[in-house]
Amino acid sequence: MSVVLVTGSEGQLGVALQATFKAGPLFAPLFCSKFMLDITDAGQIEACIKAHAVRYIINCAAYTNVQWAEQEAATCFKVNSLAAGYLAALAAKYGIVLFHISTDYVFGLTKGRPFNPNDPTDPLNQYGQSKLVGEQMVAARATHFYIIRTAWLYGEKGRNFFTKMVALAQKGDVIQMVDDQIGSPTYVYDLATAIWEVVEKIAKNNLTDYPSGIYHYTNEGVASWYDFAYAIAAALPNRCAVIPRSSAAVGLKRPYYSVLNKSSFRSVFQIKIPHWQDSLALCVKRWQPQ
Ligand SMILES: NC(=O)c1ccc[n+]([C@@H]2O[C@H](COP(=O)([O-])OP(=O)(O)OC[C@H]3O[C@@H](n4cnc5c(N)ncnc54)[C@H](OP(=O)(O)O)[C@@H]3O)[C@@H](O)[C@H]2O)c1
Repeated sequence: MSVVLVTGSEGQLGVALQATFKAGPLFAPLFCSKFMLDITDAGQIEACIKAHAVRYIINCAAYTNVQWAEQEAATCFKVNSLAAGYLAALAAKYGIVLFHISTDYVFGLTKGRPFNPNDPTDPLNQYGQSKLVGEQMVAARATHFYIIRTAWLYGEKGRNFFTKMVALAQKGDVIQMVDDQIGSPTYVYDLATAIWEVVEKIAKNNLTDYPSGIYHYTNEGVASWYDFAYAIAAALPNRCAVIPRSSAAVGLKRPYYSVLNKSSFRSVFQIKIPHWQDSLALCVKRWQPQ
């Protein structure tokens, strides 16, 4: 059985990968939290790879606090850039296939059409810059790698947009939400399921059928943050008011139209991607207090 190392396994995506893993004859997952494996320590990573004969790495470990990253840029770069480079170099040394998760924050303010994987990048903040350098390290050092950019992750558990909206609605707050930033809400369990499907396809088939490179995965469809908040509020038992506002009024610096073109993901991996509204309905159903 091939060992699949999942780093940052107690984060939002790591937990979803734990929940969606289906036991079978091909893989044995090795879920490592930050406390079990600190990816900024190359020695620790190499010891783990050797001890467990790791064949695949899914790197979910990251510094993800976009606001704090402005003040803690050095720490953010250590985790998102340098450590990604360690994982990539070790993946190359030990013949490991590396899945590295990245973000729409590598793009800038350009409006109007979905971003293709090879479109020019132009990060607006330290977080985006650190993730971009991480991608570049992976592409330069790893031999077999899949950089999967995603966006707007949420689920019924943990701290994310969905659970924050639920908490606000339960307090009866009026929710004000920007309506001029567009993206694709992405149910974290859909992404996790898709990653396991890709790992399985790669394990069963010829690696060369699945070219290394950058791929995009979000749910299908587009929405503004306002649309997303409205859809969540509308699905809850205790409905609350959601009011649109402009991002200029809030002072948020984020890509305006951060829709990711997923056509290469769909065509290379032959995986059907659910629409965000269907996945939100599923999320609400799973969240529903019994
Ligand atoms: N959430 C989103 O909306 C979103 C959107 C686009 C892309 N992404 C990308 O998706 C990936 C997963 O994100 P997520 O939402 O699951 O983030 P998350 O919930 O913040 O999880 C990241 C995990 O990495 C851990 N970590 C931090 N530093 C580490 C280190 N030095 N060594 C090992 N683990 C470390 C964190 O631990 P602590 O919490 O204890 O620090 C946390 O458990 C990231 O690459 C992120 O950039 C996320």
